[in-house]
Amino acid sequence: MKVQLLSIDDLTKSDVSRLFFALRSTKRKQVFENCPVMMTCFLEPSTRTRLSFEMAASRLGIKTINFDASSSSMKKGESWRETLLTLDALGPDVIITRTPFQLEAELVSQLKASLINGGDGTNEHPTQALLDAFTLLEHFGGDDLNGKRIVILGDTAHSRVAHSNIKLLLRLKAHISLLSPPSLSMKHPDCEMLSDFGELRGPIDAVMVLRIQKERLMGVCEMSDEEYFSRYGLSRKRFDALGAHCVLLHPGPMNAGVEIDASLREHPRSLIVQQVENGVLMRMKLIEQCLSTGEL
Ligand code: CP
Repeated sequence: MKVQLLSIDDLTKSDVSRLFFALRSTKRKQVFENCPVMMTCFLEPSTRTRLSFEMAASRLGIKTINFDASSSSMKKGESWRETLLTLDALGPDVIITRTPFQLEAELVSQLKASLINGGDGTNEHPTQALLDAFTLLEHFGGDDLNGKRIVILGDTAHSRVAHSNIKLLLRLKAHISLLSPPSLSMKHPDCEMLSDFGELRGPIDAVMVLRIQKERLMGVCEMSDEEYFSRYGLSRKRFDALGAHCVLLHPGPMNAGVEIDASLREHPRSLIVQQVENGVLMRMKLIEQCLSTGEL
């Protein structure tokens, strides 16, 4: 027998009663406990973060559902708030979001599902910071970064990666220098602020190059790509000058030849591939925590 439900006319009154009775008797949360679902809801482009979460879920045997904003009712004017509450009501165990604006804590507190921020506007990108810090600790050893000098290079004003990293790396006791063009500079009372490579005093233990957030600049930075690279880009020569043990991080995606000489990705002291590898492991751990204790 095949089911064909095209209209209410296809159902008798007893079909409806039987269906409702069956549903009432199984409408318990336990029914879903053996098949957890992660939902990704990305309103901005992403390669690493979305696929890293998907890979992590696949490795854990967790089903993933991707929300596609371009074919959703957001195209018909449905608000972000309505959309997120609707996704939550569908019953995922964990939702991963990426938004061009800052997430509202009040909205997130209304959700039944766990939520992990995969980047919200210029605000934060906590899982990127966690995988970056883990990668640094794996390289240096130990439980903190006490005594390590880390340079965060580039658009600190608009970078959510920088904002989360500054919080986490300071917590791990690193000494942080922010080297940015004045128009793209973020002020932080606990970081050294620099605006020129000449001001940097080595040796440096790690340099974290930021992506230029072209989609958010809107005329803030007047420099051409060539001028930016010549004044603030990480060339091989500048990387060598940071010290013989300095390691390189970049969250990706790279603007090759703008903030970095892309050939540095393959440098023996580049940790960029390890960052991506550790991203999957970090996100596996976070998803597991969401599904088990519900605490981080
Ligand atoms: N690092 C990072 O967030 O990359 P994606 O934009 O590709 O996710």
